[in-house]
Amino acid sequence: MTVYHPIEMDYEEAGTGVPLVLLHGFPFNRSIWHPILPYLTEHARIIIPDLRGFGKTPDGNEPSTMRLMAEDLFLLTQKLKIKKFFLAGHSMGGYISLAFAAAYPQLLSGLGLVTTQAASDSQEKRQARFKTIESVKKHGAAVLAKEMPAVLTQHKDLFPAITTMILYTQPNGIINALKGMADRPDFTEILTAIHVPTLIITGQNDKIVPEDRIKTMQKLIPNNWVVKIPGGGHMPMMEAPELVAKSLLDLIKSKK
Ligand code: MLT
Repeated sequence: MTVYHPIEMDYEEAGTGVPLVLLHGFPFNRSIWHPILPYLTEHARIIIPDLRGFGKTPDGNEPSTMRLMAEDLFLLTQKLKIKKFFLAGHSMGGYISLAFAAAYPQLLSGLGLVTTQAASDSQEKRQARFKTIESVKKHGAAVLAKEMPAVLTQHKDLFPAITTMILYTQPNGIINALKGMADRPDFTEILTAIHVPTLIITGQNDKIVPEDRIKTMQKLIPNNWVVKIPGGGHMPMMEAPELVAKSLLDLIKSKK
């Protein structure tokens, strides 16, 4: 790993019980998880951090690699004195969760992979990310706020909340995360070594994660099950909060 310059993650905590950390995707912040909290707080201690460069967490002024963000999470759990926990990550948060599972397998009780994938970017996808970086440098987060909502979900009532979140994100946070995702390693190799119960959540109409990526994780992770959200896109925690919360509770209960 390159030299690690620590940043302190801003986070929210709610509920009591077994610790469950939820990592948001790109280019959002911890508020994506708010709709599921009311279903979980009686059963678990929920920790929702903002990743570096998003929400209220400062940017690191360097590419936000998945490994660096996994290290940020490690520091946060140390600070909170959490020894072992369930970890669920949405999309980019899922890439970070896989980086964390590779680096700190002993700290995990179970894993949730929410509309995410293990594969790294294709050449085409990397080129597209670098093009987006140039547009964001010129026009800021507004570029993504305009383009992304319709790709993320068919639930039009969610567009205002998604747009607000994206516009709240600092351009540097966006740019550094795009660089980090473009350079992320392929996590497919580590899937067979995940020995905790693993929940995979997929959206029936997710336009971002191809179905074969879900099948790969399903085939290679030893102890996993898949929940497909009917009518769901890339944002199931906002589209179907009750079902996502129930699935996470099943994950927690699966570990005896
Ligand atoms: C996300 O929701 O985190 C992004 O769609 C992930 C990506 O761009 O690969």
